[in-house]
Amino acid sequence: MITTTVPPHAHSQAIRVFSFSSGKGGVGKTNIVTNLALAMTRLGARVLVLDADLGLANIDVLLGLAPKYNIKHVLSGEKRLRDVLVEGPEGFLILPAGSGVPELVALTSEEKMVLMDELEELEELIDIMLIDTAAGISDTVLYFNAAAQKRIVIVTPEPTSITDAYALIKVLANRHQVKNFSILVNWCRDREEAIKVYRQLSQVADRFLDSISLDLLGFIPKDDKLPRAVLRQRAVLDLYPDSDAGKSLEQIAQNLLNEEIEEGADGNIKFFWRNLLRLPA
Ligand SMILES: Nc1ncnc2c1ncn2[C@@H]1O[C@H](COP(=O)(O)OP(=O)(O)O)[C@@H](O)[C@H]1O
Ligand SMILES: [Mg+2]
Repeated sequence: MITTTVPPHAHSQAIRVFSFSSGKGGVGKTNIVTNLALAMTRLGARVLVLDADLGLANIDVLLGLAPKYNIKHVLSGEKRLRDVLVEGPEGFLILPAGSGVPELVALTSEEKMVLMDELEELEELIDIMLIDTAAGISDTVLYFNAAAQKRIVIVTPEPTSITDAYALIKVLANRHQVKNFSILVNWCRDREEAIKVYRQLSQVADRFLDSISLDLLGFIPKDDKLPRAVLRQRAVLDLYPDSDAGKSLEQIAQNLLNEEIEEGADGNIKFFWRNLLRLPA
C-alpha cells in the first residue's frame, strides 16, 4: 500500500473532473474507476464517482450497494442531491445517475437551473470527480468527454477494443474539437504489450486525425484477482491491495493526483456542469 502525504492541491478549490470511456464495453472501465476512487481516497482526496454507465455491472452492483434513488429523482424535484449520494468503501461518494443520464443533455432551462443549484453544494464536498461513462458513443458520452478536464480512454489489446476506442476519439476530435486523450491499457501481459497497443492507436490517430495528442497514462495487467474481487462484490484494492492490478491502479491514482492542473484551465465543477448542460458561464 502506498503511504504518502496528502497532495498539496487535494483540498484546494479547483475540482478536477476526469472522464473514463472506452467505446467498447466489458474492458474494465467500472472496475478501474471504482479502484481509482478508492486509491485516491486513501491518498487523501475527496472523490465523487458519477456513475453514468447504464451497463449491467455498474458500480453499485460491483460494490454490492443498492441505491434507492438516482439523478432522475433530483431532476423531478423528489429528492435533494445530497439524499441521492451513496457512500462507497472508505467513504468516497457515488452519484448514481442511472436511467436519468440520457435526460441530462435534454433538460429544460428550468430543470438545468435546479440541477446547477443542487450541484453547487457538491463543490464543498469533493476534490475530484470521476465519471464512469457508458459504452458506445452516444451524445451523453460525447458530452461528458467534452466537458471533462481530462479524458481517459480505456483500451485492451483486443482489436475490437482498439477499433472502438479509435472511433470514440475520432468523433470527439471531429465533432467536438477535443484534441487531448490519455490512454490506459487494461488487461495486458506487460508493459511491452501496453506500449504496442498505445503505438497502434496513436499511429492511426496521427495519420487520420488533425493535431491529436495521445499520451499513455499507464497499464493494468491481466490479473485474476480482479474477477475474484468482482465475485465478492468488493474492490480489488480492498481485498487484494498487493495484487499486480492493485499496485498498478494505485500508481495510476497517484500519477493522476500529482499532475499539475493546467494554468488557466477552468477547474471548478460549476464550469463542468455548465459546459455539459450548455449553459452560459
Ligand atoms: N486487468 C484485468 N484482468 C482480469 N480481468 C479483468 C481485468 N479488467 C477487468 N476484468 C474483468 O472484466 C469484467 C468486466 O469489467 P467491467 O469493469 O465491468 O467492464 P466495463 O465497465 O468496461 O464494462 C469484470 O469481471 C472484471 O473482473
Ligand atoms: Mg461498466
